[in-house]
Amino acid sequence: MAARIVQITDLHLMADPSAELKGVCTRATLQAVLDVLRRDFSSSERLIVTGDLAHDELRETYEALRDLLAEWMPKLRLIPGNHENRDFMRQVFGDRVTVVDDRNVFADSVGGWRLIGLDSQLPGEVRGQLGESQRDWLARELAAEPLRPTVVFLHHPPLKVGTGWLDEIWLEDADPFLDLLSQHRQVKFVCCGHIHHEMTVVQANTLMLTTPATSVQFLPDTDRLILDSVPPGFRIFDLEPDGSFRTRVVRVPIVTGDS
Ligand SMILES: [Fe+2]
Repeated sequence: MAARIVQITDLHLMADPSAELKGVCTRATLQAVLDVLRRDFSSSERLIVTGDLAHDELRETYEALRDLLAEWMPKLRLIPGNHENRDFMRQVFGDRVTVVDDRNVFADSVGGWRLIGLDSQLPGEVRGQLGESQRDWLARELAAEPLRPTVVFLHHPPLKVGTGWLDEIWLEDADPFLDLLSQHRQVKFVCCGHIHHEMTVVQANTLMLTTPATSVQFLPDTDRLILDSVPPGFRIFDLEPDGSFRTRVVRVPIVTGDS
């Protein structure tokens, strides 16, 4: 039987519950997504959150997020984005992440699959970086279970998505990461956030999926940041023990109350 997992990304939560990012109340859109997850996907075996948790990088924002995700706590796994404070994240979610060389990562198993989460934050920068020591950790994790189908989550895309301004803020040390993946064919795909829209990219033997934000949406194929009017969303995966899987994005229309 397939293991269902859910990914949400780019929450951009702020301590002020009514705060807006580019005209979007990120607390309200996250709440709408969580309402749908509670209604339709509460039996999922994991909730993976792939970064940009706290737009204002305040400790109280992480505390508010922990309250919002309380019902998911045993199933919750998180990694940082570029908008993050690693110390506050691990102070509030210390039981949900593993600290490796000052990075907040996770390595988990469900339904015969391994789920690995990487920390691609480069403090002070929008672009991402994994670094050699984290790649060494990943190499050991992959070598430990070479036969188990595996998915690797990270915030920054390691493949170009075809939108110039976003491709400049991708994972800057993508090449050695992709080299490492090429040596471990049990990695079925990588899954990212950061670009605030849905995308599927195949390059060489690497499959990369990206997922819409729970907050503001970016229009693809633009030369600068332009907001898209599509609603927020999340991604679900059904992982089969034989290494096959199905995935789709679910959109959550936001009801504003003024009809
Ligand atoms: Fe983001």
